[in-house]
Amino acid sequence: MRHVLLLLSFSLVACSSETKPSPEPVASASNTPAPPASSPAPVVSDPVAELNGMDPRKPVPLQPMMAWHQKQNMMEHLVAIQRINAGLAEEKWDEVAAGAKLIGSSPQMKMMCQHMGAGAEGFTELALGFHEKADTIIEAAKKKDVKATLAATAATLESCTSCHAAYRQDVVDAATFKARTGSAHDPSMMDHGH
Ligand code: HEC
Repeated sequence: MRHVLLLLSFSLVACSSETKPSPEPVASASNTPAPPASSPAPVVSDPVAELNGMDPRKPVPLQPMMAWHQKQNMMEHLVAIQRINAGLAEEKWDEVAAGAKLIGSSPQMKMMCQHMGAGAEGFTELALGFHEKADTIIEAAKKKDVKATLAATAATLESCTSCHAAYRQDVVDAATFKARTGSAHDPSMMDHGH
């Protein structure tokens, strides 16, 4: 019996020593007002705050409509990569270029990225860099160069993954958006580009 207990306590120690220190609490977790000092500690049940507490990425404040729009853009980005890859496998260069054009840069795309990144430092720059990398896929496809197209696609995907590693959505209301970006959300921005 003592062996079992010893083993158990050892494994508990082993476990706790592996536990990573939790990341710094992020801004949105502090949106919840603090209770008055006199009241007993509340039993907080806010799963979203709990999730945000374990996600160390920088929050990108977005109003619900912007967040949904961004998710749609993201799903389209992945479809674009799918088309590029499928086109490349069959050396259908028009298809590769058409896929890349969906994520290539344009004035509308630029405006959208500026709007989306208004409350998160560095986000817009990463986004614009991403679209410019996608432009290089179009150039490589025009030359019908398999290796160069693959390399440009890899560089583009690297932009996807580095942004995902650094930022997460933070869905906020209009007042919070305004406070954190210094500008009001302009719904007309959502009508253009992807
Ligand atoms: C400049 C930043 C940025 C770039 C570049 C970027 N993403 Fe995202 N993406 C995000 C953010 C922010 C989210 C939301 C993550 C979260 O809150 O968990 C997201 C989420 C997603 C999602 C999940 C969508 C959903 O339904 O929830 C997919 C899929 C995705 N991205 C694909 C891509 C692909 C593919 C690329 C590149 C071709 C890409 N993204 C490039 C920022 C970016």
